[in-house]
Amino acid sequence: MNIIEKIKESGLTGRGGAAFPTFLKWEAVKNAYGEKKYVICNGSEGEPGVMKDGFILENYPEELVNGIKVALETFSNSEAYIYLRKDYYDKHKQKLVELTKNFAITLMKEPGGYLCGEETTLIESIEGKRFEPRIRPPFPTESGLHGCPTLINNLETFYWISKISKDEYHGNKFYSISGDVKKQGVFEFPEDWSIEQILKETGNLPESLFFVQVGGGASGIIKTHEELHGKIGGSGSIVVYDKEKNDPKELMKKWINFYYNENCGKCVPCREGVYRIKEILDKDLKDEKNLETLKDIIFNLKESSFCPLGKSVSAPFESLLEKIKF
Ligand SMILES: Cc1cc2nc3c(=O)[nH]c(=O)nc-3n(C[C@H](O)[C@H](O)[C@H](O)COP(=O)(O)O)c2cc1C
Ligand code: SF4
Repeated sequence: MNIIEKIKESGLTGRGGAAFPTFLKWEAVKNAYGEKKYVICNGSEGEPGVMKDGFILENYPEELVNGIKVALETFSNSEAYIYLRKDYYDKHKQKLVELTKNFAITLMKEPGGYLCGEETTLIESIEGKRFEPRIRPPFPTESGLHGCPTLINNLETFYWISKISKDEYHGNKFYSISGDVKKQGVFEFPEDWSIEQILKETGNLPESLFFVQVGGGASGIIKTHEELHGKIGGSGSIVVYDKEKNDPKELMKKWINFYYNENCGKCVPCREGVYRIKEILDKDLKDEKNLETLKDIIFNLKESSFCPLGKSVSAPFESLLEKIKF
């Protein structure tokens, strides 16, 4: 069985956020026409609360590099990049240089912030352009880096590719747990475990009233205690908030400051919308008019932003606003 068939059989989905079936991307790059192909390992890991790629770099760099080598063997005349956020690059450069020598693998230090983790912005940044997203389609699998078919997978995804190539993948995944918990950190468990099971097993299930944000700080969904039976896909982060310690309005201010600093300003709905949300959060949200305006802007961001960054602003806001009363 070739590696793409093995990936398909494993059911592996991407660990960068969207949980896209990995074999479909590999198949698309394999079948795309191109004299040259690129493989990019995305180690940008810019979402608040996600830290599993750093954990893999720290503990299993050989496995990660092996996953990239498997990709290089799969796509003829291909070249690879390991794209790392600044601190990961500085910390792990030396050992990665050692592990990748004699292979067509280049290490790159991320030049920008959170948006550079978005695949088309990442490509623009490698090409030395402004850190702004491209319109899709075409998707990178067809026309990516320098217009060539490009495979972009998350760093953890490559770790599991390595395991699949050695028949050692059994459906596990890494989870980052942080916030108001006893034991923060990265843990490996089966991907079909519920949030409750994971928190219980790690000694992190709070007894008092609380809510939990899953799926990365920026795209996070807020779940109450009763909703913890569901699973977590994508980047697998769990942030626990003790209700006593966290003021929902302050939490929203924290999120919007993040988007305010990280959006690229290319499109009006996101650039202006994020600015206006920041403004409204300084006003009284018990006033129905302010609350309705806030909801309206969030809706507009979701419906008309150019890229997934602006669209994702709505996810944590909508789910939090659904669950609290001002
Ligand atoms: C704003 C934004 C930031 C992102 N940041 C990351 C990141 O830090 N790491 C990552 O692997 N994917 C990130 N992604 C997702 C990538 O665009 C891409 O889907 C992913 O690297 C594909 O890998 P996967 O199929 O293995 O999940 C981000 C997406 C958006 C919209
Ligand atoms: S949605 Fe935000 S980050 Fe994306 S292109 Fe528009 S301004 Fe830039």
